[in-house]
This record gives sequence, structure tokens and C-alpha cells, in this order.
Amino acid sequence: MKKLITFLTALTFFSCATREKSGPNMKEDYQIIPKPANMTFEDGRFQINDETKISGIKTLQTEGGYLAEMLSMATGNSINFITATGQTEAKTGNTINLSISDTISNTEGYVLSVTPEAVTIAGKSSKGVFYGIQTLRQLLPAEVENKKISDLSIPAVTIVDQPRYAYRGMHLDVCRHFFPVSFIKKYIDLLAMHKLNTFHWHLTDDQGWRMEIKQYPELTKVGAYRNGTIVGHYPGTQNDNERYGGFYTQEEAKEVIAYAKAKHITVIPEIELPGHASAAIAAYPYLSCFPNEPTVIPEGMISEKGKELQEHGTPKIVQESWGVFPDVFCAGKDSTFVFLDNVIDEVIDVFPSEYIHIGGDECPKDNWKRCPACQARIKKLNLKDEHGLQSYFVQRIEKHVNKKGRKIIGWDEILEGGLAPNATVMSWRGEEGGIEAAKQDHDVIMTPTTYLYFDYYQFKDPLTQPLGIGGYVSLEKVYGYNPDPKELTKAQHKYILGAQANIWTEYIATPEHLEFMVLPRLAALSEVDWTPQADRDFADFKKRLGNLEERYQIMGINYGRENTIQREEE
Ligand code: ACM
Ligand code: ZN
Repeated sequence: MKKLITFLTALTFFSCATREKSGPNMKEDYQIIPKPANMTFEDGRFQINDETKISGIKTLQTEGGYLAEMLSMATGNSINFITATGQTEAKTGNTINLSISDTISNTEGYVLSVTPEAVTIAGKSSKGVFYGIQTLRQLLPAEVENKKISDLSIPAVTIVDQPRYAYRGMHLDVCRHFFPVSFIKKYIDLLAMHKLNTFHWHLTDDQGWRMEIKQYPELTKVGAYRNGTIVGHYPGTQNDNERYGGFYTQEEAKEVIAYAKAKHITVIPEIELPGHASAAIAAYPYLSCFPNEPTVIPEGMISEKGKELQEHGTPKIVQESWGVFPDVFCAGKDSTFVFLDNVIDEVIDVFPSEYIHIGGDECPKDNWKRCPACQARIKKLNLKDEHGLQSYFVQRIEKHVNKKGRKIIGWDEILEGGLAPNATVMSWRGEEGGIEAAKQDHDVIMTPTTYLYFDYYQFKDPLTQPLGIGGYVSLEKVYGYNPDPKELTKAQHKYILGAQANIWTEYIATPEHLEFMVLPRLAALSEVDWTPQADRDFADFKKRLGNLEERYQIMGINYGRENTIQREEE
């Protein structure tokens, strides 16, 4: 029976590929994710052959080159992008024409028209053209992802499309586990394939500082490496005693930014403050309220090397366990702000993004409560308490970032003690922080744990998937998320810029596992962010998902399926 099904499947693919140029198409020919806003199916197909040309204006060279490369690989012929002098040139005659159209209103919108004679992709900007190409990609057989195909055709269609939200993000924590530039580029490719436009790069945390800062070389010499990591689920069974780490040079970060730009993805760096600062403090202990107090690693879990360092005059070490730790940046000493301003200046020089993410989450106030400098600051500024001090901290950083012409994003804890005047809030502890921020006329990005934490398990039974942090966010749960809370008025909805999924990597050490966690939930997120709410239907999405999953397989990318990754010994 299995053989018969395989044979029938093969027959279906074969019959698709050789369909008549003028014949009818089937619904299965149009499995696009994220689902476009408007789509009209038509009969007939555009056949790609040796003579097919891609043309467009010069400013679309990057997009044209990208499409040319894709089609050249699929056909085995050299299909080139030819620069046309006028907008209307070469719209017929075996040509794929790329153009800019002022009649499209959304800056990321596009119109894709496929007839048996020609293909046109018009965008309001090069972004729209790029998304039109991503849609075209999904109308081609899945094999285009890495194989030569003898018969390459596109079903006729008219698509008028644009995203629901301007901010469509995916985050990656590279601190708990490090991922090399080669993988970051692959990750960016995945985001682009799903029409996301923002990569939130979480670059600093307790367990590792990952970004070269030239004025502070110890950040990467010391702060980028830990002497061991707990084994198993927190609090762990032992320490593996293996030195672990890595960092990105500024040149590498620029390479990633340029790579992402060509795929219309903005990279937002996150420099965590005032909490999650153990790695920075290990590099420069004066940043702590108490430079001589040892970094606290949970009982019995410290590495041999870490213990040795602490016993021989180096109290501050990079954190080796997971969680939230009390050793945070001192808010009382001006030297902390001199350091952070200098770090931010270098980050701003490297990252052209409008936003700089400054963290702001999970900052215990224990040290501030007993630190004379922090208490003196509270008294001098007549602040209410340590929450007021946190608010002061974030506002002072915001002023510096704003002075440089950029804006801050912070996790929703930045609401506590009063929001910085121009801050955008990333709502992660549910939607409440986002709702409150929108009510205060602040922009919001929704990333609630309950729907969009991709480090949570994706299948109900934890034992059918690799060891994870916990929680349960199924594909259907992600798909069911609507980022516009009903608590907001229609006018306040404009503050919801969009949604982002987060992935923290305490328990995710390899690209293979990371892909398993991200996919296919990323596909569900893409429809949350792109497709009009009224057009979203999980059963329909599931039917269309097969097209993408086939591509993941052909591309050699792992994706979440129960019982497919062996659980490691605990
Ligand atoms: C977070 O998950 N601590 C933002
Ligand atoms: Zn202090």
C-alpha cells in the first residue's frame, strides 16, 4: 500500500510538471505561506525555458540577481537579469519583468501577475518586489530549492498583496549558546522566505557577551567565554567543565547586516541592561555594585576552573547556569553610564537600524537596595524606590540613544517606575504590558510567551522532543494568535507594530535543534504578521504547509516533527 501511495504521489508531481500551457490549474498549485491578501487563480502556465529573460530597472538589480540565481540553478541554464531602461519595457514575450509602481500604497506591497506569456512583479519599492519573488518561488516546484528541473512552469495567477503589520520579527539568543555567522545567514534566509523583515539579535547576557567592542576588549576576551555549563535541566546534575563561547567581530556583524539588507531584513541588536550583566561584569568588575563579591553559581554547579578563579582572587566569572541573577549594572556609579554610552556608540556605528534594543527585563533589585551609590542616587533624585531607579537608568540610556538619532526598544519591565518618553515596548509577559504601553501612546511589539516563545515545547508530550525549557506552544497555538488586543480602541491599534517570536537557547545548542524549534512555527508566525485576520484559517494553513515542509526537506533544513530528534540522556 505504501508503495502505491508513493507511486501516486510521484504521478501527481509528474502530471503537474507537464501540464498544458493553457490548461486548468488546481488549488494545490497555489500553496503560498503567508497567504496573500488577494489572489485570483487563472488557467494556463508560464513556461520557463532557455530563452526566458528577467528584466527590470537598475535599482532592482539585487532582487533581479536573486531571482536569476534561483532560476539559473533550477534550469541549469544561465538566466540573467537584464537592466531595462524604461518601466514599461519587456512586459511580454517570455519575460519576467520587475518594476516599481506608485499605484501600490503599502511600501512592502506588490502585484504579481502570471500569464502564459509573461510574468510581472511590481512593487511599491524593492521590498515589495522581493516579496513578490518569494511568492513566485512558492509557485514553482519545491525542487527549485536545490535541484535542476527539466520542466519548470508557474501557474497563472494575479496576486495583489501587502503585509498586515510593518514589524515582522524573529529573535535569536546567541548568548546561552553561540551560533556562527554561517548559520546566522541561513537563519536570515529562512526569515526572508517567510516574509519577515526584522532579525532581533540578542547579543549580551549573563552567560556570554557576543559582540566585539573595540574600546572594551575584555568584553570578548573574558566575557565571551564561560568555563563550563550546567548539565541537564536547571539546576542541573553537574557542570560539564568545558570552556564554551564565541563572539562576532564588528566586521562579521557588518557582514551579517549587509547580507540581511539584501534580503530586506533589518537587524536590531540587543545590548541587555541593567540586568543580565554577569558577562560584562566578569570582564569589568567595576560595573557591579559590589566588585569584590563572587559571582553566585547555584550550589554545587560551578566549574572546576570557575572555582579555582574565585579562590585565587577573581570573584567575578561568566555565569555557568541559567536563570535570573542579582549581579546587575550598578545604577549609582557614573562610570557605569560612561561604559554603556561608549558601548552603545560603537553598536550604533555598526548597526544602522532605527531601533537599538536595550533589554530592561528581569533586573533584580537586591544589589541596588544595599548599594550606597545606588541608594545615594535614589535620594538625590528623589526617586520613589528601586523601580524608580530602573526607570531613571533606562531613561538616561534612552536620552543617549535618541541624541544619536535612534530609538530604544525594551522588554515590558521598562513600564515599571515610568516609561521612557520615546520607548517602544516589547510585550513578553503576556499582552498586558503591550496594552498598557499602547494606552500610553507608545509603540508596541507583541511577543507573549503564551503564543510566541519558540523555546517552549511544540508537542504536548515532552518526551517526544528534545529536552527544552518547558512550556507548550503548539503550531496551532501560534497560528491562533491575534496581535491586536480587544482591550484597545481602534485608534490605539495603530501602536501595535506587529508580532515577533523569541527563541532563548539555554537548551538549544545546535543549528539542527534550533531549526527543529523554529520550524514550522515560523510559518504560522508569518501568517500572524502578514495575512489579514479575516482570511486566516488553521485547517487551510495546514494544507498549504506541505509545500513549505517539502522545501525545508529539500533545503536540508530540520523542522519540528515528533520523535525525530533523539532525546539526550538527562
Ligand atoms: C524574556 O524572556 N526574559 C524577555
Ligand atoms: Zn550600585
